[in-house]
Amino acid sequence: DPPLRDLATAKGKVIGTAVTGSKLTGTYGDLAGAQFNALTPGNAMKWESVEPSRGTYNWAEADQIVAFAQAHNQQVRGHTLVWHSQNPGWLANGTWTPAQLSTLLQDHITTEVTRYKGKLATWDVVNEPFNEDGTYRSTLWSDNLGTDYIAQALTWARAADPTAKLYINDYNVEGVNAKSTALYNLVKSLKERGIPIDGVGLQAHLILGQYPSTLRQNIQRFADLGVDVAITELDIRMQLPATEAKSTQQAADYKAVVDACVAVTRCVGVTVWGFTDSDSWIPDVFEGYGAATPYTENFTPKPAYHAIAQSL
Ligand code: XIL
Repeated sequence: DPPLRDLATAKGKVIGTAVTGSKLTGTYGDLAGAQFNALTPGNAMKWESVEPSRGTYNWAEADQIVAFAQAHNQQVRGHTLVWHSQNPGWLANGTWTPAQLSTLLQDHITTEVTRYKGKLATWDVVNEPFNEDGTYRSTLWSDNLGTDYIAQALTWARAADPTAKLYINDYNVEGVNAKSTALYNLVKSLKERGIPIDGVGLQAHLILGQYPSTLRQNIQRFADLGVDVAITELDIRMQLPATEAKSTQQAADYKAVVDACVAVTRCVGVTVWGFTDSDSWIPDVFEGYGAATPYTENFTPKPAYHAIAQSL
């Protein structure tokens, strides 16, 4: 197959991968540069990574990934500005008034978005704001600032970089369900209020054989609202050990996801959450599961890789 990025570019789509900066050398670096036209820092731009102690910034890994992307003519998806997880200890364990938290959040967004102004295609501004039933998740932000922290975060991000596309990103919002409908209603109301919102990210951390059959319909309803859609964190985990039958099923599932995105003009593309099993979060978090990415840990392309190439 030709490189995935050439196939995607010919279709006007993004094919991205999450990456770890320290690994961008050798075969990992060669494949990340040759196969993908977009990168997402897997952890490097999260608040705990960039401001580990208050007022002390560490941009090294984020800068490195942005430089690698520029050298390889790749887009960068910034990930992520406002989240309930991976916040620095000083922030998460501090005692703050709502006014202080609001200022901290505004400063964080302004500092980080300004640093990469004009260099990033996209920001996942708000990550994972919803519960499964479509209510708002209780977080440091929603508990103290109310749910309008979302509108404020988007507004601050736009002010700092008017050219980056601003997204809300969540998981289990791939099919039509209570959670994706809550996201739909939020985007609709933000648009009605004139709050800057350019797209929704469907993470797509899927389980083998559980492709959501309403994915295309769901992408289409967001497109019809007037926003872009991206598949932002695709992986398809299986119970280990991997077998040939499971790998075949996984290829079919990957193909179905990419097909659904290709079918809708406003679906800008697909990013995998790690392109190799050696750089996947799955075994650390889902006990007994793994083999979720398109390449083995030895960088051999799997049937899933060829399925993506077929769809693009
Ligand atoms: C994961 C990273 O891949 C891991 O390395 C880290 O330990 C935890 O976070 N949803 C997201 C991503 O939006 O930021 C998460 O990334 C995976 C789930």
